[in-house]
Amino acid sequence: MIVIKAPVTREEFKAYYALRYKVLREPWGHPKGTEKDDYEPISEHFMAVDDQTGEILGVVKLFEKSPGVGNISHLAVTPAHQHRGIGTLLVEAVEKRSRARGFKTLGAMSRVTATAYFERHGYHVAGIPAPHLGTTHVVWMEKELAG
Ligand SMILES: CC(C)(COP(=O)(O)OP(=O)(O)OC[C@H]1O[C@@H](n2cnc3c(N)ncnc32)[C@H](O)[C@@H]1OP(=O)(O)O)[C@@H](O)C(=O)NCCC(=O)NCCS
Repeated sequence: MIVIKAPVTREEFKAYYALRYKVLREPWGHPKGTEKDDYEPISEHFMAVDDQTGEILGVVKLFEKSPGVGNISHLAVTPAHQHRGIGTLLVEAVEKRSRARGFKTLGAMSRVTATAYFERHGYHVAGIPAPHLGTTHVVWMEKELAG
């Protein structure tokens, strides 16, 4: 079974950031370290774990972008386990947590290759595309959270 939990131990954080790097940075040749940003200390971190093997299969983080506005960030599922609903579990976990924190809006800087994915989850483009990391183009997408 896949469970969503927060990384706690040093080993869990190492595996958490390693998955991020493998899926979101390594394919574009970005150097190690670029998988982290200035928001790590103020973020809540979520990982999807196979409770049989302990393997981390997906990750995402959440932080408050501005008062009442949550930011989904660094959503990634390991390629061998994509299309199993793990991304959906992670998005749902972040949405649940955002409602509990009283956020009215939740959004993400979506890669242009992932906008259709966020649209499936009820998000719409609400910002102007901006260059990011030189080669990866992103666009702000958001949705209103019902109370
Ligand atoms: C986007 C991502 C997190 C989805 O995770 P996932 O666990 O495969 O997603 P789910 O299983 O919940 O949903 C899969 C469905 O979403 C849709 N989908 C998946 N990736 C998509 C994409 N990039 N664009 C549009 N639709 C997509 C497909 O319809 C897919 O259905 P299918 O399995 O019948 O083909 C994963 O593909 C990933 O890590 N991609 C690379 C990193 C990335 O783009 N992250 C988002 C950065 S903003």
